Amino acid sequence: MVVKGYDATSAFERVAALKNEDLPTLGFPVIPISIIISHQLKTHNLYYNILLRYKKLGIKKARRILLLVLYIVGAGPGSPDFVTPAARRAVKKSDLIVGSGRVLELFEGGGERIVFSGENVREKLEEAVKRAAMGETVSIVSTGDPGFSGVLKPVNEIIRKFNINVDVQVIPGVSSIQLCAARLLLPWNQANILTLHGRKNTEILRIINNGKPTILLPSKNPSETASFLIDNGVDPQRKVAVCERLSYPDERVMKMKLEDVKNSKFSYMCVMVIY
Ligand SMILES: C[S@@+](CC[C@H](N)C(=O)[O-])C[C@H]1O[C@@H](n2cnc3c(N)ncnc32)[C@H](O)[C@@H]1O
Repeated sequence: MVVKGYDATSAFERVAALKNEDLPTLGFPVIPISIIISHQLKTHNLYYNILLRYKKLGIKKARRILLLVLYIVGAGPGSPDFVTPAARRAVKKSDLIVGSGRVLELFEGGGERIVFSGENVREKLEEAVKRAAMGETVSIVSTGDPGFSGVLKPVNEIIRKFNINVDVQVIPGVSSIQLCAARLLLPWNQANILTLHGRKNTEILRIINNGKPTILLPSKNPSETASFLIDNGVDPQRKVAVCERLSYPDERVMKMKLEDVKNSKFSYMCVMVIY
């Protein structure tokens, strides 16, 4: 049942939390549940202010009582099979859900949605963090795990930059790195792991010959990364695995030589292993 775009279960859960813990001690009339559901955000803000001003609670405590959280949610590599129940629950109870189109379509329920693209991601993340600080429960959804080349880093930067006080909870997801290691039967504690995503990272040249396999997210696509490595003296005959579109029906796991990777075409959605 959805009331005005909100998930009714989570609204009831919040109301239950308010009644049990705080409202009887405040001396304010209890607002009927129906009003709370239809004016959920306004009511949240009202209680937020009551808790802050009259109970003289710290912002963090008031937010916790009202169950206001900024969730940073890992959505896994792309298939619904890899979305965790914890991730689904966080999204369901959120007033606002922000993420790329590819990840948002994995989730049902929750309130308003904002889709970001490569060009406006920073702007949309700022909006999401600020709205969480204003009293909305927000989920920012990341592909894979948010802590690996995901949204956690920019969100932490935004929180610091604007000195925003929010309760943040990270819901881990299955990273494309993990699924790649699983497909290749590769214990990943014995591997170098890094991302070249969106940057020229010369760190790889320091570790590529240390005897361990290197699992990496390519800079743009595997061909460009192979070209960069060969140009910087890495043996073109090195064994490589490319895992493309992991967990999707058209997933491909390819084993080839570095020079063949340089001369082939792949989608941007790949993880590479250099043995
Ligand atoms: C911005 S990074 C996000 C990584 C993500 N946080 C993770 O833990 O997998 C995006 C890159 O991750 C890799 N990636 C994400 N999903 C993938 C998938 N299903 N198959 C292969 N590579 C994937 C690709 O290299 C893609 O360009």
